[in-house]
Amino acid sequence: MAEALARVAPLQRALLRDPIAFLSAEHARQTVLLGHLERVARAPLARAAPVLAAMLLDWMTSELPTHIADEERSLYPLLTAHDTAGVLARLQAQHRGDKAAIPAVVAGLRRAAAGEPPTPDFAAAALAFAAGHRRHLALEEAAVTPLARRVLTEEALAALADEMARRRS
Ligand SMILES: [Fe+2]
Ligand SMILES: [Fe+2]
Repeated sequence: MAEALARVAPLQRALLRDPIAFLSAEHARQTVLLGHLERVARAPLARAAPVLAAMLLDWMTSELPTHIADEERSLYPLLTAHDTAGVLARLQAQHRGDKAAIPAVVAGLRRAAAGEPPTPDFAAAALAFAAGHRRHLALEEAAVTPLARRVLTEEALAALADEMARRRS
């Protein structure tokens, strides 16, 4: 893949005016990045792998923790009272699983970014992370996004947008 096509630019801050749309746009972006992660896992010494690995390192060590903080500290607490099916507890357990899986994936990506062969467990760890996070994104889009659209007031959405903007300042 040409390096220019591999770039997945961060989202514009202006999108934060609609924080639910912002999180959904991040989910779409994450889906593309998971495709890149699967590419690096399957061919860690390919010509494009160092560029993809560097981009994935930025995402997994910086943007993804911020996204998870948006959800766990700002969005989910606004939805707890409306979550009759217990979806938020499942999603938080999945976040814990992601956080536990990230160090092994990051270690392999650091080697791929340097053009070095990753350790033998990298491919399985990266592919498992990608599959698990895809399921997580699907559940958030199926359950959390429509719930947030249904129950959050304009005031709640504005407060959520403020918290997310502060997290990025
Ligand atoms: Fe999310
Ligand atoms: Fe999440």
